[in-house]
Amino acid sequence: MFNLNELLRENIKKLVPYSSARDEFKGEASVFLDANENSFGSPLTKWYNRYPDPLQWKVKEKLEMIKSVPANQIFLGNGSDECIDILIRAFCEPGVDNVLICPPTYGMYQVSADINDVEVKKVPLTDDFQLDLPAIEAGIDDNTKIIFLCSPNNPTGNSLAKEDIEALLNNYFGLVVIDEAYINFSRYRSFTQELKDYPQLVILQTLSKAWGLAALRVGMAFSSEEIIAVMNKIKPPYNINQASQELVLQALEEVGQVNDMIRIIVEERELLKTSLEALPVVKHIYPSDANFILVRVTDAKALYQELLTKGIVVRDRSSVILCEGCLRITIGTPAENKKLLEAIKNWKS
Ligand SMILES: Cc1ncc(COP(=O)(O)O)c(C=O)c1O
Repeated sequence: MFNLNELLRENIKKLVPYSSARDEFKGEASVFLDANENSFGSPLTKWYNRYPDPLQWKVKEKLEMIKSVPANQIFLGNGSDECIDILIRAFCEPGVDNVLICPPTYGMYQVSADINDVEVKKVPLTDDFQLDLPAIEAGIDDNTKIIFLCSPNNPTGNSLAKEDIEALLNNYFGLVVIDEAYINFSRYRSFTQELKDYPQLVILQTLSKAWGLAALRVGMAFSSEEIIAVMNKIKPPYNINQASQELVLQALEEVGQVNDMIRIIVEERELLKTSLEALPVVKHIYPSDANFILVRVTDAKALYQELLTKGIVVRDRSSVILCEGCLRITIGTPAENKKLLEAIKNWKS
């Protein structure tokens, strides 16, 4: 059974978190002499001389409405990359514990674990990019604290089978993190409405992809109130700056505009796929639930270089396990996709 106290590192259990000036003060006030800010203002017109809300409640209340997850079950990170790092730091004892990942997958799980001196167990996906449940079961040991799943997966683009994720959730009681960075482009639903059934579940999403706000660095974790409280306890006090909080609040009013962009990106994805499939250098295109496609070509490295000479940058994934010969291509605007197609058409391999 899941037991949060058993999973947490001892030092994190005992940690007395930093208490900021604004944490200690409750009620109404008009003169703020508690935080060593510049009381005269700032060169900017906004109140940027004041520290931001450490727990970003206004943003979370808006997200509660959009995501149907209570505000106290939402954590905001400086990108979902920060959520990944915080989870590893909270639950994995360096040099002792391990996390399990299923390559090919997003690179930061490994990098964050490496930075924290946490061992990474790798159980590759099957040839059709699904979870290898027997191998995962064999790979888990008593010190496996977190399993990172990515669905839709980067760089393959496919969604993991729901039944497989549920089988894991019903049998493994360390943390199961489902990274849903690309969920808005998928045919399948988010796991957020399953949170109440699985106390060990953490779902990551981000404003960097469908929402078009990569520069603001805001990622989300959805989980139980208890796990979110642990994440809040160890995060840097002001990890989401005031400008990002304000701009995100504005952007979250524009769900319609974002849905329109998602619809066009998905349409463009299918158009690009059809056009690419007709080209002789393209050997295979994997089905995608994301805003990119994984394309196997006759000579990935040469095509990558050729595209660079035309000023087009794609991602060379040809050295990644199960992605041999593949480029990962983000869906661009219609004009960008046309330019890409022309460049590949004219390439003499
Ligand atoms: C699967 C996945 N998770 C997380 C991220 C990082 O997102 P963020 O910009 O929120 O840190 C990416 C970015 O490429 C990603 O592909």
